[in-house]
Amino acid sequence: MKVLLINGSPNAKGNTALALGEMEAVFHAEGIETERIHVGNKAVRGCIGCRKCRQTGKCVFEDIVNETAPKFAACDGIVVGSPVYYASANATLVAFLTRLFYSTSCDKTMKVGAAVAAARRGGLTATYDELNKFFAISGMPIASGQYWNGIHGAAPGEAEQDAEGKQQMRTLARNMSFLMKSIQLGKERYGIPEREKPTFTNFVR
Ligand SMILES: Cc1cc2nc3c(=O)[nH]c(=O)nc-3n(C[C@H](O)[C@H](O)[C@H](O)COP(=O)(O)O)c2cc1C
Repeated sequence: MKVLLINGSPNAKGNTALALGEMEAVFHAEGIETERIHVGNKAVRGCIGCRKCRQTGKCVFEDIVNETAPKFAACDGIVVGSPVYYASANATLVAFLTRLFYSTSCDKTMKVGAAVAAARRGGLTATYDELNKFFAISGMPIASGQYWNGIHGAAPGEAEQDAEGKQQMRTLARNMSFLMKSIQLGKERYGIPEREKPTFTNFVR
């Protein structure tokens, strides 16, 4: 069982990383393998809407998105962490997620998703909502914790002082571990839910 943890901050040792680290310790105690992928320090361009991925199954831009795609296909869960920038997720991370989710045709159904945000003061829940939408459109169950997953801190590492924020991350990781294990059992017993052929109407016809 494996979880990918995406650091959407440019800081390798910032508050987002600290939140992810808190979760990793729990995953390891639960016997779950982890891999952290640092995205926020990369030059990731946005989607150009060429839709070539619909034919090739991969993005036309060869970068961290295509490197992550097979890892995403193989994982049981994904944690996406972002610093809050202007009450939103970091644009680099949004570019990455947009291209990763759009260009990959792997079955995302029943991979568990979790979003976490780090901020000095405000915009945590807006960022949390924004990130969760990638999971919700993909048939991915969303793990939750004891609050809307956020950690407070301004300077890199300051979130170490946010005892409640760190506890949120540990609770979230425990709940996510339980969910992933339960889904694995459920798949063995019941299989994955039947899916209808998607209807795609663009609202007009
Ligand atoms: C461009 C930019 C915009 C920011 N916008 C916000 C914001 O809207 N709300 C907030 O509370 N903090 C804001 N911050 C502060 C960061 O969210 C905060 O320092 C966070 O802990 C950084 O996480 P990191 O250490 O993982 O990079 C902003 C920081 C930067 C650089």
